[in-house]
Amino acid sequence: IGIFDSGIGGLTIASEVNKLLPNEKIIYFGDTQHLPYGNKSNQKITYYSNKIVEFLLKKNCKAIIIACNSASSIALNSLREKIHSCCVLFNVIDPLLEQIKNDISIKNIGVIGTHATISSNVYEHSIYKTRPDINVSSLATPILASLIEENNQDLYTKGIIESYLKNEKLQNIDTLILGCTHYPLIKEKISDFYKNEIRLLSSLSCIGNYIKNDLKERNLLNLSNKAGEHAFYVSDYTEFFQKKTKLFFPTSIILEEENIFS
Ligand code: DGL
Repeated sequence: IGIFDSGIGGLTIASEVNKLLPNEKIIYFGDTQHLPYGNKSNQKITYYSNKIVEFLLKKNCKAIIIACNSASSIALNSLREKIHSCCVLFNVIDPLLEQIKNDISIKNIGVIGTHATISSNVYEHSIYKTRPDINVSSLATPILASLIEENNQDLYTKGIIESYLKNEKLQNIDTLILGCTHYPLIKEKISDFYKNEIRLLSSLSCIGNYIKNDLKERNLLNLSNKAGEHAFYVSDYTEFFQKKTKLFFPTSIILEEENIFS
């Protein structure tokens, strides 16, 4: 199973897949050379995502997960065209929509994510298709991803998170979508801010089962009981990224640099 992200944040999704589908081999690609995607143009995000998918297809992936919200928002259609039927393509938005679709207690949703994700309006459009009764209000919170990577527990960090959440767009909501790979890592802080009174949704909590069920239906699950041997590639290796993998993946992993863009 190929999994890619703009950086190492998508390792949270890899970790979930590893937990629920331990026999599957994961081939991860983090585009650390071009991170962050959230501030890039649609053309660039689409170009980089296509290159990564070409790389994962060459590695014979039976399924590819776009673990990045920004790439899922911007590049999905282009990647669908590229892949056709040679591999199953997953993104981080569909599993969430599945959860929202049948939950009639949801009436007002807030969404936070990068500039790319929020300006694509992907959540508004897709939620409207199945639940036109839900109000969706979105806010770009671009500093959060790098702040989370720094992992500072200081008051300054808390202040930035709170000043985003105090924005009027995020008042009177009953549900908040954490629309970025990194945000589940500050779920507790967000929950504290709202005094546990609103529902926090992120694809991290549902994507593993979503993929497992889908691959099972297609008879694509690996039924052997041998643990998959994973590989983790990045486009630009630094000690910083290697160290930060601990934040996003529970066991020790080694990043390998692979230049796929030249
Ligand atoms: N992985 C990105 C996302 O989920 C966050 C970091 C970035 O902007 O590249 O949108």
